[in-house]
Amino acid sequence: MVNEENIRRARVAAENCAGAVVVLDSERRLIAASPDARKRLPGAVSGNRLAEDALASEPEILVLFLDSPPELSAYQELRAGFTAAVSHELRTPLARLLALLESAMLPGSDVGELMEQARREVENARELIDDVLFLGELETGREVVSLGRTAAKPVVDEVVDSLADRADHAGMTLVVRADDHVQLPLRPRMLRVVIENLLANSIRYAGQGTTCTVDLAETPHGAVLSVSDDGGGVPAADLPRLFERFYRGDQARTSRGTGLGLAIVKHIVTSAGGEVEATSEPGEGLAIQISFPTS
Ligand SMILES: Nc1ncnc2c1ncn2[C@@H]1O[C@H](COP(=O)(O)OP(=O)(O)OP(=O)(O)O)[C@@H](O)[C@H]1O
Ligand SMILES: [Mg+2]
Repeated sequence: MVNEENIRRARVAAENCAGAVVVLDSERRLIAASPDARKRLPGAVSGNRLAEDALASEPEILVLFLDSPPELSAYQELRAGFTAAVSHELRTPLARLLALLESAMLPGSDVGELMEQARREVENARELIDDVLFLGELETGREVVSLGRTAAKPVVDEVVDSLADRADHAGMTLVVRADDHVQLPLRPRMLRVVIENLLANSIRYAGQGTTCTVDLAETPHGAVLSVSDDGGGVPAADLPRLFERFYRGDQARTSRGTGLGLAIVKHIVTSAGGEVEATSEPGEGLAIQISFPTS
């Protein structure tokens, strides 16, 4: 049973919460909702049951149970939230695809252009599915993250080469300052995924005339790999959310992407015993620093 004091505390906490949060009891009845959550769920009234469907369409809302529902463990709850978020993300390209196909049926439509847009939507959906599958594999441990040590510089050079055209196109200069001897406790494929995601982000978000620097060094505390650019960076308030699945900054929403890249990076790094940190000063770009402490 949820006691009155806990209900009162949940209401005070939700009222003062900046994000979208709802607190439910074990029967999924609403106990409290933060102001942002009330805006997203205008019909929600205290005491009424909140169906899973209503919440699935608002994946940004964090759902907390004051008394955990008997049929679901915390882990299952987390999985259910993730599945809801994936379904939501997949619905968007599919809805746009349907609209494009319907437009293509209209007389006089520019079929070539509409098909090109439809192709891009399919690519979006495919990228999302690939990322989700990869993340799933990482989490079940089937994809072994760390197996021995890898000399990092050749992998950095290879990724930088493969992205040189894209960087050029975006008006960005790539600089590598790597120490030849650094080894990282990651399989080459995992290291490639990490570097590729970080460089692709800088190329995509930093903008024309910027520079992105990859630093690789052995320090007294361990090996450090960092990727920093001098683009627009990320507002301080958004920094803690950067590694969340599906998190995308407001400005990023106009570009392609699913918000899984940094979640994958964090998962790989922490699974191999490392740490990842993001720092950004207003107008001074974003730096992502990965460190593997010497044990
Ligand atoms: N170098 C950067 N400069 C500014 N903002 C960045 C940078 N890197 C990441 N971000 C912000 O962090 C968000 C999350 O990045 P993440 O790599 O997880 O997802 P994504 O790039 O949007 O999509 P995906 O990587 O799945 O294609 C981005 O949408 C963007 O708002
Ligand atoms: Mg990315």
